[in-house]
Amino acid sequence: MKEISFSYIKCGFSNGEILSAGKSLLTEIERMNEVAKSGNYQDDISSINLPSGKGSIKRITDLAKKFKGIDYIVVIGIGGSNLGTVAVFEAVKGKLHNQLPRMPKVLFADTVDSDSISEISELIKNSLSQKKKILLNVVTKSGTTTETVVNFHILLDILKKYEKNYKNYVIATTDKGSNLYDAAVKEGFHILEIPKKAGGRYSVFSAVGLFPLAALGINIDNLLRGALDMRAKCLNKDIMKNPAAISAAVLYLHYKNKININDNFFFANDMESVGKWYRQLMGESIGKQHDKRGNLLNAGITPTVSIGSTDLHSMAQLYLGGPYDKYTTFISITNPKNKIKIPKINELKDLAANIEGKSMHEIMEVILKGVQIAYKKGKRPFSEIVLPDKSEYSIGQLLQLKMMEMMYLGCLLNVNPFDQPNVEDYKKETKILLEKR
Ligand code: PA5
Repeated sequence: MKEISFSYIKCGFSNGEILSAGKSLLTEIERMNEVAKSGNYQDDISSINLPSGKGSIKRITDLAKKFKGIDYIVVIGIGGSNLGTVAVFEAVKGKLHNQLPRMPKVLFADTVDSDSISEISELIKNSLSQKKKILLNVVTKSGTTTETVVNFHILLDILKKYEKNYKNYVIATTDKGSNLYDAAVKEGFHILEIPKKAGGRYSVFSAVGLFPLAALGINIDNLLRGALDMRAKCLNKDIMKNPAAISAAVLYLHYKNKININDNFFFANDMESVGKWYRQLMGESIGKQHDKRGNLLNAGITPTVSIGSTDLHSMAQLYLGGPYDKYTTFISITNPKNKIKIPKINELKDLAANIEGKSMHEIMEVILKGVQIAYKKGKRPFSEIVLPDKSEYSIGQLLQLKMMEMMYLGCLLNVNPFDQPNVEDYKKETKILLEKR
């Protein structure tokens, strides 16, 4: 199992500058080491203990094994309750998994879009009427998120009509004592608990992500091993050997220079959802009205997601010619699962030069190199993360790196990276409006 690499030579700052910004993280790194040593779940940063998996992994894998041979898994959840699962699943299994002859299929029900949910309903009705087995995994930490509860109502109603033993096919993943938890106990659904201090966007390595991923055939042991190995690196007190601290320091230094957009440019199509997961992680963790003391701040770095080479034909003009307000993180892989060679076709030989006989991945690598040269020439700062492959071990490393980077960035910006008071605002207002109707 190979390590992912992080290179920041072209990030726009010297080692001295990075070190001097990163030094103020030493107390936080000490605190994280304490929490990691204790293995507890008492602190906001305790999600760093999830990859050690103590206690919950056996229950998760045993339950996943029970559903071997299932036809469809429907994950009902939104935000931190499904983005990590989608990210890992698509990176490892591919975006087109459902279209290929592979089982089980997966459906994600997040927003309350009548047409999307009708299509999901149609798919599961068809399957259930053919006596196929469907598993509903409803995931909500609070147990009360409107979108999730609405979708659960609709899909459970269908399951009940077709499946006599429907209770056996519902798994509620939630906080102990939440409204959903109580309802699940009453109904006799399976229940998986989320550790209280593991907040939504930091919860992918809890039952939130691990159960559906295990049931979908993802090797969660390797995923967690990758996360744990990365955690060790990101706990290093030597700042210049700590990739999360370096990455946070670079983002912070750019932010101070008014470069407040971070584009994550994936040269791996199946990793687009990792970008969307990161968008939430950065958006909700760093976008804050107030600092930790309550002073008005309106801080934030806008995370964007680009896909190489697709978006070179859409966004590259802006990135290379537009305002100097972006810092880019290129993310690529060395070894794709499949190596396609470009065949020789005489009739097409004049269309594009020097492609025949090369592998498709080689073309992608050349494009990426070309892009980076253009960024260098244009003095556009960037860093680079290279994954050996899209295995569970590699993806586990990447997600853990990014979560710890965000905790350090919160510390540098003096904001709380674990709350989302303004998201709670909309949730509250929605509930008030619903009550009035
Ligand atoms: O990261 C977060 O805390 C949020 O994005 C939540 O995950 C999201 O709002 C869904 O909340 P819940 O899991 O309570 O349904």
